[in-house]
Amino acid sequence: MDGPKIFKNREALDPSFIPDELPHRDAEIEQIAGLTACALKGDVPPNFLCYGMTGTGKTATIRYVSQKLAQYCDSNPPWWIYINCNVVSTPYRVLAHIYNTISGKEKIPPTGLPKDIIFKKLLGLLDLYIKTNVCFLVLDEIDILIEKKGGNEILYDLTRLNENLDVCRANVIGISNKLKFKEFLDPRVKSSLGQEELVFHPYNANELSDILEKRAKVAFQEGVINEGVIKLCAGLAAKEHGDSRKALQLLRKAGEHSERNQRAFISESDVNKAQQDIEKDHVVEYILGMPLQSQLTLTAIYLMRKFSKENIITSGDIYEIHLELANKLTNTKLLTKRRISDYINELALAGIITANTRSLGHYGRTKIITLDIDISLIEKVLSQVKHISMADLLNYKPLLLQTDKVKIKNNVFKKLL
Ligand SMILES: Nc1ncnc2c1ncn2[C@@H]1O[C@H](COP(=O)(O)OP(=O)(O)O)[C@@H](O)[C@H]1O
Ligand SMILES: [Mg+2]
Repeated sequence: MDGPKIFKNREALDPSFIPDELPHRDAEIEQIAGLTACALKGDVPPNFLCYGMTGTGKTATIRYVSQKLAQYCDSNPPWWIYINCNVVSTPYRVLAHIYNTISGKEKIPPTGLPKDIIFKKLLGLLDLYIKTNVCFLVLDEIDILIEKKGGNEILYDLTRLNENLDVCRANVIGISNKLKFKEFLDPRVKSSLGQEELVFHPYNANELSDILEKRAKVAFQEGVINEGVIKLCAGLAAKEHGDSRKALQLLRKAGEHSERNQRAFISESDVNKAQQDIEKDHVVEYILGMPLQSQLTLTAIYLMRKFSKENIITSGDIYEIHLELANKLTNTKLLTKRRISDYINELALAGIITANTRSLGHYGRTKIITLDIDISLIEKVLSQVKHISMADLLNYKPLLLQTDKVKIKNNVFKKLL
């Protein structure tokens, strides 16, 4: 509390913050305005799709245009119902969300009503509330909805609302982070939704610098940040497919790091520290999202490191320890050497371990494994996995390590390597 003040307005670095200006998105803003502004004159806008990688400004641009359109209307601006399909994630809940948002009440229960009943109710509600106006239904992260059962049907119905509406007009805007998602669309939906398409290209390092510079002016006290810091954040994010969200996250974390250390300005080393923290978060998320068998494979590696620090870890050891661990859990399949080997490869691809295949004389070819992440971090994450913590696997000393067998074998291996 007593340290120097770094932030002026921390929220300006939140992903949900919409700035007054969106540099390098003029063309997209103009296109979207061109497609939607006819609603102000009482015309029916086309449905359309926006694509692009995460952090290319799709959500921000749509929200920006909707705000501007509202400012141009003295009375009765068009309605915008914004739905993030990652949050509102089933067709039923999408319909319920639209209904409840328009009516301003939780009228549709979270489950239970048949879809066509909700649809009928929705049609009546749209005409009643929106009257002769237009209602934009923005389905953000629409690719997630398509993967759900009934996703295509609901999109089909939503894009055809107008055929059944008497006075009001509804229009669907789909946003997708996945470029290939159209392959999963039903052809009928494709033709009604993809009347127009907009592609958002990744930002380059210079564009990211401009975005960050403007945002930093709002977010930070004067003089706490320099050009080098901005350039570094922009450069790091440009390497990750030009992700503006990543760039802003780096800047915020760097600011917080400097604040925690009670410094009066942000330095490039704060940015590097922020980058390391973000990587750590990714690893944690990745491990928590892995299938249990993969988590058990990692547990086996962890136990090897914990109980036999100086020993070499081989894929054979992991196989045996995995077997012991799987036996301690109910409903967990025992895996073949081949499957364990696949899991080891995946862990290596994710950058959690390194696995080098070596030839060890008459022991044959085996993988030698080293852990690339701090063992305390692995322990912290694995202890959050219910099955692993409930069976107390992290404190279990495998039988394999209770005998001298491993030690003797290891001494041989060490000579061979
Ligand atoms: N051109 C831009 N100018 C200013 N901020 C931007 C710009 N593009 C994106 N942002 C910001 O970057 C973050 C990610 O953008 P977002 O629109 O959520 O990306 P997407 O929806 O494509 O994943 C948001 O905080 C947004 O405000
Ligand atoms: Mg988005």
